[in-house]
Amino acid sequence: MNNSPFLSNCTLDAIRDAASALKAGHLVAFPTETVYGLGADARNAHAVKRIYEVKGRPVDHPLIVHISSISQLEKWANEIPDYAIALARDFWPGPMTLILKRTEIAQDFITGGQDTVGLRIPSDPLALALIIEFEKISDSAIAAPSANRFGQVSPTTAQAVSAELSERLSPDDQILDGGASHVGVESTIIDCTGNQPRILRPGAITKEMIVEASGFEIISNIFKDSISEIRVSGSLESHYAPLATVVLDQFPKVGQGYIALADIPTPEGVIRLASPKNDQEFARVLYASLRAADDQNLTQVVVMQPEGDGIAIAIRDRLIRAANGVNL
Ligand code: TXA
Ligand code: MG
Repeated sequence: MNNSPFLSNCTLDAIRDAASALKAGHLVAFPTETVYGLGADARNAHAVKRIYEVKGRPVDHPLIVHISSISQLEKWANEIPDYAIALARDFWPGPMTLILKRTEIAQDFITGGQDTVGLRIPSDPLALALIIEFEKISDSAIAAPSANRFGQVSPTTAQAVSAELSERLSPDDQILDGGASHVGVESTIIDCTGNQPRILRPGAITKEMIVEASGFEIISNIFKDSISEIRVSGSLESHYAPLATVVLDQFPKVGQGYIALADIPTPEGVIRLASPKNDQEFARVLYASLRAADDQNLTQVVVMQPEGDGIAIAIRDRLIRAANGVNL
């Protein structure tokens, strides 16, 4: 058992109960394979407003709508290009969000007033079960940002959600506990409103995978997107940041936290927070390690960035933002 009044273990009854809570306009935080989401009925303006209040997020930042199957796509999106269907077929359910032209069901309070909507089918079985149960009783879907306060590190466990949000939740809100997220960094976001796909946020679905599935070379504006042009809150300054200062690629000093691949040794007096064996594990443990630094009241954490392509690009993207808040 757990000791938070909000946490629930994920039996089928608990999932049905959580779906009913969503239908009644309450919030349900739930596991996904990327990070935990803070969910609400995507067609309930009042419930969605509470997400923004609990997160402390500006209202013009759009939310991802989580659906259960490709058959739901046309309900939320219009003018879906063939390459988006190819991506959906190859990578859904999974850690990928597609930005598409919206239908009238995706209202301004979800899209931040833009004429597009972000859609994702997560692969986590509990997330899928919750979405399916909710779709059965609601003719809607689940809007969910990462379940953290705006600008902070995304949670990858139910305990992290509870520590971060419990005091802002209401008695009827819930947190479903599905264990630690397997991927550990947020979904790859792909803008599918143009003639070819454009990566807005790197993630576990990599550029190489997108090229292969879509047949297009990728224009990647990851480090150039202006937030006034397209609102991806992950491109704001100082995102994914713990309280501790994050320092990149420096030799760590006594008393500093340290995150680096396992083959990099720990200098004497340095507090090792994680020693992932490969990039996948690096992504999986990164956010929990940054949270651990704060739990141990460390003031500085040195992180040695993984090199190369694949998910290492997503790790470096989050680390650069966590480290210096520069809008690259
Ligand atoms: O892995 C994930 O994507 C997690 C899980 C819970 O699904 N969700 C997540 O949501 O990371 P959030 O809100 O923390 O980040 C989603 C990003 C935001 O930066 C938002 O601005 C962007 O997606 N986004 C959503 N809809 C958009 C749209 N229509 N156009 C451009 N960006 C959009
Ligand atoms: Mg987020």
